[in-house]
Amino acid sequence: MLLSVAVFLALFTSSFAINFDFERIQLTEAETVDYPDIRFADQGAVPYEECKYLPEDDDWPQDEDWARFNETLGGALLKPLPLATPCYAGPLYNANICALLRMQWAFNTPLHASDPTSITSQWSSGYSCVPTSNPNSTCTQGGWPLYVVNATTARHVQLAVNFARNRNIRLAIKNSGHDFNGKTLGGGALSVWVHNLKGLTYYPNYTSPEYTGRAVAYAGGTSTAEASTLMLKNNFTMHVAGGSTVGIAGGWLQAGGHSSYTSQHGLAADNALQLEVVTADGRLVTASAKENPDLFWALRGGGGGNYGIITSVIMKAWERTTTVSGSIMFSTIPTRGTNQAALSSDTFWAGVREYFSYCIPIVDAGGLGYNFIRHTASGNVTGLSFQTSISLPNKSMAQYRAFVRPLLQRLNDIGIAVPIPAAKRHINPPMHSSLSPQPHHLDKRVVGELIPSAWIASRFFLRSSHSTPSGLDSMTNAIRSLIEEGGLTFHGINHAPTRNASGNADNAVLPAWRDAVLHAQGFAGDRHWDGTTIQRSFSDEKKEHDHLQKYMQKWRDVTPGSGSYQNEGDAQDPSWKEAFYGANYARLEGMKKTYDPWGVFWVIGGVTSDEWEVRGSSGGAGSAAGGIVTQDGRLCRVDFDGKRSI
Ligand SMILES: Cc1cc2nc3c(=O)[nH]c(=O)nc-3n(C[C@H](O)[C@H](O)[C@H](O)COP(=O)(O)OP(=O)(O)OC[C@H]3O[C@@H](n4cnc5c(N)ncnc54)[C@H](O)[C@@H]3O)c2cc1C
Ligand SMILES: *[C@@H]1O[C@H](CO)[C@@H](O)[C@H](O)[C@H]1NC(C)=O
Ligand SMILES: *[C@@H]1O[C@H](CO)[C@@H](O)[C@H](O)[C@H]1NC(C)=O
Ligand SMILES: *[C@@H]1O[C@H](CO)[C@@H](O)[C@H](O)[C@H]1NC(C)=O
Ligand SMILES: *[C@@H]1O[C@H](CO)[C@@H](O)[C@H](O)[C@H]1NC(C)=O
Ligand SMILES: *[C@@H]1O[C@H](CO)[C@@H](O)[C@H](O)[C@H]1NC(C)=O
Ligand SMILES: *[C@@H]1O[C@H](CO)[C@@H](O)[C@H](O)[C@H]1NC(C)=O
Ligand SMILES: *[C@@H]1O[C@H](CO)[C@@H](O)[C@H](O)[C@H]1NC(C)=O
Ligand SMILES: *[C@@H]1O[C@H](CO)[C@@H](O)[C@H](O)[C@H]1NC(C)=O
Repeated sequence: MLLSVAVFLALFTSSFAINFDFERIQLTEAETVDYPDIRFADQGAVPYEECKYLPEDDDWPQDEDWARFNETLGGALLKPLPLATPCYAGPLYNANICALLRMQWAFNTPLHASDPTSITSQWSSGYSCVPTSNPNSTCTQGGWPLYVVNATTARHVQLAVNFARNRNIRLAIKNSGHDFNGKTLGGGALSVWVHNLKGLTYYPNYTSPEYTGRAVAYAGGTSTAEASTLMLKNNFTMHVAGGSTVGIAGGWLQAGGHSSYTSQHGLAADNALQLEVVTADGRLVTASAKENPDLFWALRGGGGGNYGIITSVIMKAWERTTTVSGSIMFSTIPTRGTNQAALSSDTFWAGVREYFSYCIPIVDAGGLGYNFIRHTASGNVTGLSFQTSISLPNKSMAQYRAFVRPLLQRLNDIGIAVPIPAAKRHINPPMHSSLSPQPHHLDKRVVGELIPSAWIASRFFLRSSHSTPSGLDSMTNAIRSLIEEGGLTFHGINHAPTRNASGNADNAVLPAWRDAVLHAQGFAGDRHWDGTTIQRSFSDEKKEHDHLQKYMQKWRDVTPGSGSYQNEGDAQDPSWKEAFYGANYARLEGMKKTYDPWGVFWVIGGVTSDEWEVRGSSGGAGSAAGGIVTQDGRLCRVDFDGKRSI
């Protein structure tokens, strides 16, 4: 009798608010009766230990436990070796595959996105298995998760969450693996790979109590490229990321998610209408303005991987708008293909300042600026180059030219002759060219080991920095210092996800972002995700990290009260709580305690992540000398007194 009530309830919960058939396939309480490992959290006690277990521990599941779990999953359990394994002596050694991997490693984002564990920026793995040219070196599992559930149903996701929680195993979630801080990794972890949760439906006239209009339902593993194809087919526009392989239901969405349309329509998190999510207790729930509104609030801005596993999303869309974009550039060295003279350093920076002074008009027109300031070389001459693409929605070519002309005039007035850009009209949101490797990076293919890795950091420069001469001076000087003194590279994105643009969304997006005109990123020039580099020791990594932070401090000094975009920021930013979450931190902390009192989910830089640490990792964090947080260690509670705190 009791059982049938449970089954009835399970069926009942699955009967509404489901977007895709794969979400109808759910774990039932009936299945858990004889199998405690897969029980929901409210069906029994959850272990409370100082540390998550690793294979060397007595309580780590036996082989037969894994086999039973795999059988329950219908065979969806993988035990993948690191992607670079064919480069190492042993049964899987393969010189040809290794050569291919080495050539593609740093540039081929689909290579990493379609692998169960591999990721784009790899320092966080502990460099335990790199695509080496020396097969005699060693490859270990390091920070790469040990087991992976290749999830294709909601039930798979629920089983993974319950098994990891009940057996005290670290849980990881991987979508595209694009996170710069390695949030999808975990030494000894069981990972939920959401990449194969597929489904995508366009609703020209979606209706809910809060909203009527265009919308799209998409599954947890949907990529930007897949959504872009749907947009073309059905003639509408929606937020997607600038890189075609970025996932649009995972980290991107949950930390904000900016797009080409951010100045017009806010962030992805502002446009989500409903989320289907497996929470830490193993239940599949709906989060929307009506159901679990607190969870809905936290999932839209509170960061990926920390509150639940999203199986599908309903997202607002809007009528198709075309975008016109064009580029301007200038440099301190002669620029090939133009008759622009080389600029003095002071003129160059005066030009950058003029551009910054024009960013408010760009974002207020609903537009996007996408720029780089790079160290550049031509023959034996080195210098700096500035390049920006300016995109404006819903404009004719003539309107576009009229819009940029005053900026060109101002640059001309200070001695920078820039031609009217050759603009192009895009139907889909434009993909950004920074995805393709720069030629000087390609040249490095022949030297050393190619490990894509990036120390990246972010800071929002607000309207106030852009609107007064002194604001523009201090902003330009702080950025100049990072580039000239620090030898680092700058990547700027001008957009304004204002409260208005967001439709007055009430969510956990960092409040300072509402006032931002520039999302500025600093990184080491040869270490961005489009670059290649030679693997370094962790003491060198630490030096590079601290070097970047030294110059980020100058940015922080001139942007009091602002913050940073956690998806393109440094999770080891000394002010990460304030920078990523601002005034929302306290409420987000409460939500974390409510929805995940067991600590099932943990990600570096996530809300309450400082209650845990990774011990014994090769990055050396926690040691007296300080260090880098890599994921090839054991995840442990920092203050453990043996008493359950909840
Ligand atoms: C080439 C490139 C282009 C980019 N362009 C943009 C851009 O235009 N706009 C922008 O805002 N950002 C951009 N980013 C940054 C991007 O937002 C982050 O890398 C983000 O973490 C990617 O999310 P993901 O889910 O695809 O990646 P992953 O690395 O797979 O996951 C990131 C985090 O989300 C969690 N997660 C993943 N899936 C789920 C899920 N279904 N449920 C719950 N948690 C989940 C993971 O555990 C992890 O913590 C870009 C990054 C790259 C490398
Ligand atoms: C899980 O089962 C499938 C199907 O039997 C098998 O192919 C796979 O290797 C198993 N996974 C593990 C980790 O043993
Ligand atoms: C690897 O070890 C073998 C056997 O000791 C040796 O012959 C070979 O030269 C080594 N290769 C490299 C690249 O060091
Ligand atoms: C994951 O599952 C999908 C769907 O069943 C399958 O096509 C794919 O080959 C699996 N991936 C791996 C690496 O096993
Ligand atoms: C969309 O649905 C609403 C509410 O049901 C209705 O008023 C409206 O006419 C519909 N619009 C279209 C284009 O079908
Ligand atoms: C696509 O949508 C735009 C904007 O609503 C409209 O002008 C255009 O005619 C549509 N194109 C097609 C092929 O339907
Ligand atoms: C730079 O190269 C040019 C010609 O390629 C040469 O004339 C000049 O001497 C070089 N300058 C230096 C400093 O090496
Ligand atoms: C595009 O511009 C036209 C007129 O310039 C305006 O009527 C229309 O509403 C705009 N569309 C959008 C989506 O902003
Ligand atoms: C916000 O939008 C409202 C309504 O569209 C408009 O009246 C108001 O001027 C806007 N405010 C700002 C600051 O743009």
